[in-house]
Amino acid sequence: MNKQVLPEFVHIVEVGPRDGLQNERQVSTQAKVELIDALSESGLRHIEAGAFVSPKWIPQMADSPDVLTQIQRAEDVIYSALTPNRQGLENAIKANADQVAIFTSASEGFCQHNINCSIDESIERFKPVIELASQNGIAVRGYLSCVIDCPYEGATSPSKVVQVAKRLFDLGCYEISLGDTIGTGTPTKVAKMLEAVMAELPVKNLAVHFHDTWGQALANIYQALIMGVNVIDSSVAGLGGCPYAPGAAGNVATEDVLYLCNGLNIKTGVDIKKVARAGWQISHELHRQPTSKVSLALRARDRE
Ligand code: HMG
Ligand code: MG
Repeated sequence: MNKQVLPEFVHIVEVGPRDGLQNERQVSTQAKVELIDALSESGLRHIEAGAFVSPKWIPQMADSPDVLTQIQRAEDVIYSALTPNRQGLENAIKANADQVAIFTSASEGFCQHNINCSIDESIERFKPVIELASQNGIAVRGYLSCVIDCPYEGATSPSKVVQVAKRLFDLGCYEISLGDTIGTGTPTKVAKMLEAVMAELPVKNLAVHFHDTWGQALANIYQALIMGVNVIDSSVAGLGGCPYAPGAAGNVATEDVLYLCNGLNIKTGVDIKKVARAGWQISHELHRQPTSKVSLALRARDRE
């Protein structure tokens, strides 16, 4: 193994309270606030805390204004939220979100199902979001879904991923999170996709976002790490999925990514035990165990 190609530090973007809980049974606002407060004490520096989307589309996120206003904010943590349009951003600003994210897809089918418009229309919708965000000094992240496969159209070509990723970057997104929404990616496919994107965009502006439906997320993350990507989205306890990607499992678990990074001597600044504790707490609310293997193993070892 060539140690030198691995990054020294990995930034984790914790998406559990949003990506995770948007696709779980409804939990109380208080449980969400307690989850985010517990995560804030773990060393995580970026927590996606909610989504200012239509409550008719995603009822689980309808209480995001309350969540964002009730959490105890740690000074060095960014609390962000999804904003699909200007209305979402206005609400996010009222709730004091530190950062927001716009989201589109590399495939037309998913774009239509997820945000009810074409890719071109989504980019037009984002222009006023970027403008208002910039007037308010709010940084905007860009999510790009279906970078490997689309649940409605099959394989996505790397050239299509590059095309839409560039449009998000040119709009003003400081970081593009490349989403394997249905978790079908394997390291070979991920390498081809990343190689194509990295030929056009700086690697420092890229993040990876793997759902773990087919159990390949950690292998794909390792592939991304050796290619120089050092921002990884993950979800405490492996919560979630995506409501418009049928059958998609949750994101890769934060605990599993931390264990991988620790084993590779990559710093994250995050306390794995504190994240695992927060994961058990929210899993208890959901009446199930975490899907994180590391979390289960930690608990089994503690009981020995
Ligand atoms: P639409 O129905 O086309 O929107 O939805 P519209 O502009 O025609 O508005 C219809 C109604 O929605 C109106 O209310 C609006 O006020 C309201 P009515 O007059 O009928 O009472 N509305 C809103 N309400 C609250 N907040 C808003 C908002 N906007 C409109 N921001 C829209 C278009 C984009 C709003 C809708 O499709 C939507 O909210 N979609 C969100 C879907 C979603 O959240 N998906 C999951 C997140 S993406 C994801 O998980 C993937 C990711 O993790 C990466 C990966 O894994 O690939 C990021
Ligand atoms: Mg996702």
